[in-house]
Amino acid sequence: MTLDRSHDSKDNSEIHTASVLVTGGAGFIGSHLVDALLASDNRVTVIDDMSTGRQSNLQIENDQLTLIHGTVGEQLAFQEPSFDYIFHLAAAVGVKLVVDEPIRTIETNVLETSAILRFAAKNKTPVMLASTSEVYGKSEALPMQEDGNLVFGSTEKSRWSYGCSKALDEHLAMAWYRREDLPVRIPRFFNTIGPRQKGSWGMVVPRFVAAALSGKPLIVYGDGSQTRCFCDVRDMVPMLLDLIKTDDAVGKAVNVGSDTPITILQLAELVKNTLNSNSTIEFKTMNEVYGDGFEDLQDRQPDLTRLHSLIGTRTKFSLQKTITSIAESFVISTGNEQ
Ligand SMILES: NC(=O)c1ccc[n+]([C@@H]2O[C@H](COP(=O)([O-])OP(=O)(O)OC[C@H]3O[C@@H](n4cnc5c(N)ncnc54)[C@H](O)[C@@H]3O)[C@@H](O)[C@H]2O)c1
Repeated sequence: MTLDRSHDSKDNSEIHTASVLVTGGAGFIGSHLVDALLASDNRVTVIDDMSTGRQSNLQIENDQLTLIHGTVGEQLAFQEPSFDYIFHLAAAVGVKLVVDEPIRTIETNVLETSAILRFAAKNKTPVMLASTSEVYGKSEALPMQEDGNLVFGSTEKSRWSYGCSKALDEHLAMAWYRREDLPVRIPRFFNTIGPRQKGSWGMVVPRFVAAALSGKPLIVYGDGSQTRCFCDVRDMVPMLLDLIKTDDAVGKAVNVGSDTPITILQLAELVKNTLNSNSTIEFKTMNEVYGDGFEDLQDRQPDLTRLHSLIGTRTKFSLQKTITSIAESFVISTGNEQ
C-alpha cells in the first residue's frame, strides 16, 4: 500500500494499495490517520461506535472508505479477516471520562483489544495497538523509557484504571506476539493535539483555545507547574505510518510524541498570546475538578531514543502553529466548539 510517507524515514520500501481497518477511526487521531491512508490510495474500513467520535471527521463521500457504526467486538463478527493492516485506536479516552465512567473505560479498553487481537491472529495481520504515556502511571523516572517500571496508584483511585487497562492491553498484545507470532506494534502516545480534538473530556489544549477565543478564563488545574510534551497529530500520523512498515518495531512498545516539555501555566500564556486573547488565567485545584483525592503526575516526558532509531526524527508543527490550527478549526466548525 502507499501506507505512504517515509520520504525521510529509514525504511523507504513502498507498500501498495492495501485494505486497512481502523478502529476508532472517527475519533480525533483516528480520523487524521484515515485521511492520510486515503490520500495514499488505500482502502479503509472504519469501525466506530461514535461514543466520542464524529462522522463529520470523515470523508464519507470517498468511495475508498467504508464506515461501520458499532462497537469493535460486535462488528468484527461480520468482517472477513482479510485486511492487510489493522490500527486499533478505539478506546475510552480522557481523564475526565475515565474518572466519570470507569466501568466503560475498563471494559472498552480491555475487551475490545482482546477482540481485535483474536481477529488479527486469524491471518496474522499486522496490528498496531494505540497505547499511552498513562501506562507509566506516576513514575518519576524521567525521561520515561519503554523498559522502565510502570507505577500505578491504588485501585481506590479510578484515575489509574485507564493506564492499567492500556498496560493490560500491552501485555495481551505481547503475549499474542510471543506465543502466536502475531506482528503487533505498540506505540505509546504522549499528549497529542490538533484540529478535531474536543475539550469536553478534559483535554487541556482545546479547552484553553476555546476559552481564549470566547474571552472566558483559561482554567489551569493545579498550580500550573506540571509539565507535559505536546505533539501535533499531523506529525504523529506519519510516525505511525512509518512504524507499521518497520520490522524492528514488531513486538515492542515505542514512545511516540514530542519530548519538549512546557508547564501548563506557560501553555495557558502561550495560547493567550498566540490568539491575542484578553482572557484571564485562573486556577482550580485538581480535587475541585476531578473529586477528592485525585492523583496526578507532575512531569511527563518521553525518551524518544527508540522511536528515532526505528524511524528517524522530524516534526513540522510548532506549538504556536498547532494552537492557531485548532483555533481556526473551532471558528470554521461551530464558531466556538469545545
Ligand atoms: N489524544 C491523546 O493525547 C492520546 C494520548 C495517548 C493515547 N491515546 C490513544 O489514542 C487512541 C485515539 O484517541 P483519541 O485522542 O483520538 O480519542 P477519541 O475519543 O477521539 O477516539 C476514540 C474513538 O474510539 C471510538 N470508540 C470508543 N469506544 C469504542 C468501541 N467500543 N467500539 C468502537 N469505537 C469506539 C470513539 O467513538 C472515538 O471515535 C486511543 O486508543 C487513546 O487511548 C490518545
